[in-house]
Amino acid sequence: MPDPIKRLTIRRPDDWHLHLRDGEVLRAVLPDTTAQFGRAIIMPNLKPPVSTTALAQAYRRQILDAMPAARGSAPAFEPLMTLYLTDRTTPDEILRARDSGFIHGVKLYPAGATTHSDAGVTDLLGYCMDTLEAMQACGMPLLVHGEVTDPGVDIFDREAVFIDRVMIPLRAALPELKVVFEHLTTRDGVDYVREAEGPIAATITAHHLLYNRNALFQGGLRPHWYCLPVLKREQHRRALLEAATSGNPRFFLGTDSAPHPRGAKEQDCGCAGCYTARHAMALYATAFEQAGRLESLEAFASLNGPGFYGLPQNAGTLTLERSEQTVPDELAMGDDVLVPLAAGSMLPWRVLTDPD
Ligand code: DOR
Ligand code: ZN
Repeated sequence: MPDPIKRLTIRRPDDWHLHLRDGEVLRAVLPDTTAQFGRAIIMPNLKPPVSTTALAQAYRRQILDAMPAARGSAPAFEPLMTLYLTDRTTPDEILRARDSGFIHGVKLYPAGATTHSDAGVTDLLGYCMDTLEAMQACGMPLLVHGEVTDPGVDIFDREAVFIDRVMIPLRAALPELKVVFEHLTTRDGVDYVREAEGPIAATITAHHLLYNRNALFQGGLRPHWYCLPVLKREQHRRALLEAATSGNPRFFLGTDSAPHPRGAKEQDCGCAGCYTARHAMALYATAFEQAGRLESLEAFASLNGPGFYGLPQNAGTLTLERSEQTVPDELAMGDDVLVPLAAGSMLPWRVLTDPD
């Protein structure tokens, strides 16, 4: 057997799906992302939601103000802002977003699907057609949380049912609309994205590549593995890993890292969301290595995303080293703490940072 790869240098990656929150949580988590990624698509599910260009501009300013002071030649980080789609988002708002130059997508949360989604869309094809047409016309991508909210649909089937009930009719009506199927979790989703016609792509998280739903119940109930869309069966994890490592340009990196204080997850109705930003590239490298496909990490992390979004590739590189690290049991988050995904476990990879 050949020696395992010990070092891997790739073009600087981007995170195409990230929750940063605001205020002191933002200040606590942002350095984890800027240490590894050149850009990130910033999710707009704040309270209140980032539903206008003016709100996105203010949020962007907050993020830039929270940036860790640039150390020496540390590369800059660019937040790629998004708008939160509501039943009342107007076509004019889309034109303002396009003209802003800093808004790169509009996020669809079906109302009630996940954390801070109550202001989301109640009937996409009923209320949002004019707005979606404006997006199609100006090339603004729709970033989709692809789960139906119908309580009659089993939670493990919500992505597959969404494809039939929403994705297919939507894309039949608007075949040129750019769509990113966010945090894909099933074989059904992989097959759909791979085979669909027109401009469609998908992000895949590190946790959906590394774990199946057994992780939620490993020796007891494990709230820090709970996210939405929820982890699925092993056959789905394998399909995701195959897609992510295939080199197919429709699949790219989106951590969906979502910070919640420890207490908000460890309670009788715990929040959905896994925190992966601190160890993101080490987690992805671990998954790609397990698949024997480390050589395709660069396409997934650094090339496919800019290709779909029509942005240049980052200048600069990131180097990963095969050197073990243990994920800490908790991380400080302002006055609070959060528990990172895979706390206490060993990762075989780490990001090589410049010596201070
Ligand atoms: O698990 C999740 N957490 N899924 C989402 O869609 C939202 C996110 C959050 O904001 O915490
Ligand atoms: Zn998310």
